[in-house]
Amino acid sequence: MQKPTHSSQHLAIQDGTICFDVRRGFQKKEYFEVLKNVSLTISPGKCLGLVGESGSGKSTLGRCLARLQRLTNGMVLLGGQSAFAYPAKTFHRKVQMIFQSPAETLDPSQSVHSAISEPLHIHFPQMNRYDRERRISELLDAVHLSTSLLNSRPLALSGGQRQLVAIARALAVSPEFLICDEVASALDAKIKGEIFRLLAELQRTNGIGILFISHDISAIRALCSSAMILHGGKLFNAAPGCEFLRKSKRNRQVLWQFLPPSGFESASTFVNENASGSHGHPPG
Ligand SMILES: Nc1ncnc2c1ncn2[C@@H]1O[C@H](COP(=O)(O)OP(=O)(O)O)[C@@H](O)[C@H]1O
Ligand SMILES: [Mg+2]
Repeated sequence: MQKPTHSSQHLAIQDGTICFDVRRGFQKKEYFEVLKNVSLTISPGKCLGLVGESGSGKSTLGRCLARLQRLTNGMVLLGGQSAFAYPAKTFHRKVQMIFQSPAETLDPSQSVHSAISEPLHIHFPQMNRYDRERRISELLDAVHLSTSLLNSRPLALSGGQRQLVAIARALAVSPEFLICDEVASALDAKIKGEIFRLLAELQRTNGIGILFISHDISAIRALCSSAMILHGGKLFNAAPGCEFLRKSKRNRQVLWQFLPPSGFESASTFVNENASGSHGHPPG
């Protein structure tokens, strides 16, 4: 299992446990342990994949890392310090989460301009109007959206455009870490490819550390330099010869689906080399 390094630049979860109280009505307390002593570290400039069956706790783990949910036990560490030692605003300037559905981030009554300018107002109140407008254009450019969409509301946009606006909004604070929870799962292949290339670019050129949660194995292979599997509340390294693989035949079957045939490093090199290329599918 990957251990947190406590480096000043990492985002980590250490021995994290989450229990939900699932009693119904007057039943006595009954707990459901979603995460059991899980530890992982996200490093700057690296993309760590997180896979697992539906309901295995991937989103719960992501929300804990983004400080949107508390662990029952264990710690989330940013730069070796507890995530809760930071004022919320400071933490969220460093760590942003992007959800599967942009509806979780975008207010339907807000225009694209206002969705992107809101975090700039909150986190950089001293920024003057000219610099703010320039930054909004820069952000739209980074996600390859036209400035002609600035006055559009989310409902007037396609699903892919909405997700790109949500990404631009997350990038507005120049985060050091991004938690991407099934960010392209509901989108068609073309926009998926665009989002993956964008994430690869952010990781490579801005040194952003990414946790890429997905059940799309080709995406994990394309983007991540390593991956972990969440299974039965526990985390396992998706690597040949790992503990998970040795446990049972069923585990071996689960893992083979997630393992890239030629190794994660070569897969991520493929995306980097093809980042500025065609708009086709990511390698699968
Ligand atoms: N607030 C909650 N109360 C009770 N159970 C929850 C709560 N949030 C999530 N769960 C349960 O935890 C499990 C993991 O959920 P989730 O993290 O969304 O899984 P995944 O993202 O891997 O599909 C699911 O069985 C879900 O029903
Ligand atoms: Mg989920």
